[in-house]
Amino acid sequence: MKKFEFTEKLIKEAGLKLTDFYLEKRKISEKKDEFDLVTQFDFELQDLLIQKIKKEFPQDSIFAEENGMDKIKKWKNKNLWIIDPIDGTVNFIHRIPFFAISIAYYENEEPVFGFVLNPITRELFYAQKEKGAYLNGRRIKASENSELKKSIIMFGISNFDKLNLLNKFNRKVRRMRLFGAAALHSSYVASGYCDAFIVKDIHPWDIAAGYLILKEAGGKITDWSGSEITPFQTEQMIFSNGKVTQEIINIINE
Ligand code: IPD
Ligand code: CA
Ligand code: CA
Repeated sequence: MKKFEFTEKLIKEAGLKLTDFYLEKRKISEKKDEFDLVTQFDFELQDLLIQKIKKEFPQDSIFAEENGMDKIKKWKNKNLWIIDPIDGTVNFIHRIPFFAISIAYYENEEPVFGFVLNPITRELFYAQKEKGAYLNGRRIKASENSELKKSIIMFGISNFDKLNLLNKFNRKVRRMRLFGAAALHSSYVASGYCDAFIVKDIHPWDIAAGYLILKEAGGKITDWSGSEITPFQTEQMIFSNGKVTQEIINIINE
């Protein structure tokens, strides 16, 4: 089976599992500290995904958030799967239905295809390089809105930075939102639901799929100074429709 079709089937299967886990009792463990959490279901889902990919494509490399390989060097020159079994684990823990499974496939550090599934709303966002972006079979495009005052801007920043940055945007945008799952945030920009997503200090697994989905939907991904960036440059990112990027950069740097 081709990799793209295989992954569509796989993520739907994993989505059903995650829906089953939603109301189950979860065991919560700390990773780095008390703000960095994981559940047994993150591992269970990750194992399922890795096992199935390995069986079908044994030559490929797999990078998954919870398997602890955190070296960008290892990601080079390979047929590489980048997986986040649950993006938005804290939402999942608190039963806030805004979390997703993210699976991306890269060749030589270039995205080939990516899928993001919210198993609760059953929204499946996906894209293939140069073939457009889709939501449940319908073509999606980033919004046409060029006015920040009419924009919904999402944020994904740490507790420390939040207030300062949010203050800067106060009364300059229609609404600010912090939903808490970067894979979905980037997909929300791609589908035109929201106009931009401003984020700091995330990791490639959070947005490996969302990056391509937004690119294929006509959006733009830059750092906070406006330079276009790769999915591996995740320190300061702006995912946008491309039309409000400059205004956002001006405000961030005020
Ligand atoms: C987190 C989410 C969140 C982002 C964090 C990520 P996780 O992923 O994407 O939106 O702000 O930086 O770590 O830990 O739930 O997979
Ligand atoms: Ca994540
Ligand atoms: Ca995760």
